Amino acid sequence: MQMVINKNIKMAELILINYQLLPVLNRFGLRLGFGEKTVEQVCKLEEIDTVFFLEIVNTFNNENYLPENHLQNQSIDLIIDYLKKSHDFFIDVKLNSIEKMISEFVQKCSSTQVQKVALIKTFFDEYKKELIAHIYQENSVVYPYIILLEKTYISNSTDKNKNEIQNYNFSVSQYASEHSDVEEKLFDLKNIIIKYIPRTEQTDLCNHILFDLFELEKDLKNHQRIEEKVLIPKALIIETELGIKNYENINF
Ligand SMILES: [Fe+2]
Ligand SMILES: [Fe+2]
Repeated sequence: MQMVINKNIKMAELILINYQLLPVLNRFGLRLGFGEKTVEQVCKLEEIDTVFFLEIVNTFNNENYLPENHLQNQSIDLIIDYLKKSHDFFIDVKLNSIEKMISEFVQKCSSTQVQKVALIKTFFDEYKKELIAHIYQENSVVYPYIILLEKTYISNSTDKNKNEIQNYNFSVSQYASEHSDVEEKLFDLKNIIIKYIPRTEQTDLCNHILFDLFELEKDLKNHQRIEEKVLIPKALIIETELGIKNYENINF
């Protein structure tokens, strides 16, 4: 049974427990140099909601941790802000650095290896395209729609707001049922590298690419879990309470 991280633990210790939490901390705007401060002290100092921070960190640290109940009380704005920052990280940091390494690998391989190595690049390009499309759809349609839902709900839904919601021609239940698994291609990509990579002198580079792919996969799974276990159920409740039914002509 994995430990549950609480507010009294030192922030520095958190990183020693799981260094993969570092990018998660960065998404909250946190940088190294925590000294002896506890999670609660750092959160207060940086004006971060401690409960929300702990739920995200525990969800990431332990796959069996169920964030639903606690995060149900958090505002949708806060959850979406975190999810958007994760999107930025996936595209601007992770995909970029993996792409650079794959290009370097292609450049350094011999002429007999080039075909197989080029296949990795093709797979990566396809995966990147798919992930960017998924993120774009969420940033431009799904999240604004859910924010509007919450706004309408809090402000005691006016007909004007309800019309605006209907105009989206979109529904959370549809999004939930079609929330595509963007990790399938990532799984294929990892497999190609592990099984079919030609013998190469670039062992370190290859390992580095794989480590980053595994890390990205874990981060994405965690992200998806927050979307599916926290955001979607919350939005579905609001949709039902507002009596919104946008089930037709949905393009997701
Ligand atoms: Fe997402
Ligand atoms: Fe998603």
